[in-house]
Amino acid sequence: MNDKENAAKILKHAKKVVFFTGAGISAESGIPTFRDSLTGLWSKYDPSRLETAQAFRENPALVWGWYLWRRRQMSEALPNAAHLMISNLAETGREVYVVTQNIDNLHERAGSQNIVHLHGSLMSAKCFSCHRPTELTPEQLVVSREGEEVPPPRCGRCNGRLRPGIVWFKEDLPKGAWKSAMRLVRDCDVLVSVGTSGIVTPAADIPEIALSSKAVVIHVNIDDVSLEEPNEYMLIGKACSVLPALWNDS
Ligand code: OAD
Repeated sequence: MNDKENAAKILKHAKKVVFFTGAGISAESGIPTFRDSLTGLWSKYDPSRLETAQAFRENPALVWGWYLWRRRQMSEALPNAAHLMISNLAETGREVYVVTQNIDNLHERAGSQNIVHLHGSLMSAKCFSCHRPTELTPEQLVVSREGEEVPPPRCGRCNGRLRPGIVWFKEDLPKGAWKSAMRLVRDCDVLVSVGTSGIVTPAADIPEIALSSKAVVIHVNIDDVSLEEPNEYMLIGKACSVLPALWNDS
């Protein structure tokens, strides 16, 4: 049997599956990844000017406008066949969980229920000064164009500036999210890692943590990102082709 056949068979017999997803799973919905050489966001933008607390201090309107633009991209995108395969798998009696690095809501819109957002969400905001989470009103969600500067709204409690509820570079992951992810990853039969470059820690350590907890790890990526461990399968191809086929072939 080749890797694809083996992986399909393992998935078929799995009782508890964790999908660990990165930007590559949303690429075919039209949301750019970060590190793909031609289309990735970091081929065009400098993350240190947009995704750090320092950047927000220096130019809050640039950073707020950037996230409003990305939120607009997300709301114009639709869940794709890979997101849908994951939510359909949960209908088959298995326990299915999603641990995602993505800040979009395409897993939710595909119908998945058990989702841990390790890097926060474009749907949330909090105060930069007092850190209180807050709901944005429809009037505050102005539609922003690429590169547009939009001054952030103010906190209702302390009048500080609101910032997106997203983990920036040099910030810790939300403790609850990491704890939930660890509980799931250490206790699953199979971890399917989809569309992630495995560069940004601590999330990038998740496949290794699953392997050391005796799970099988199936990678789905257009590049070879395997760790070359015995319990791993590397399925090279686009998520929207590989994931539905993985289920149909099992
Ligand atoms: P990257 O942009 O680093 O990696 C995207 C991965 O998806 C690469 O390995 C591509 O080969 C793969 N890929 C692209 N298109 C694909 C497709 N159609 N099907 C399957 N795979 C595909 O994105 P992430 O690994 O998610 O952090 O990046 C990790 C973190 O870095 C992000 O969560 C973000 C960023 O800085 C924060 O926002 C904190």
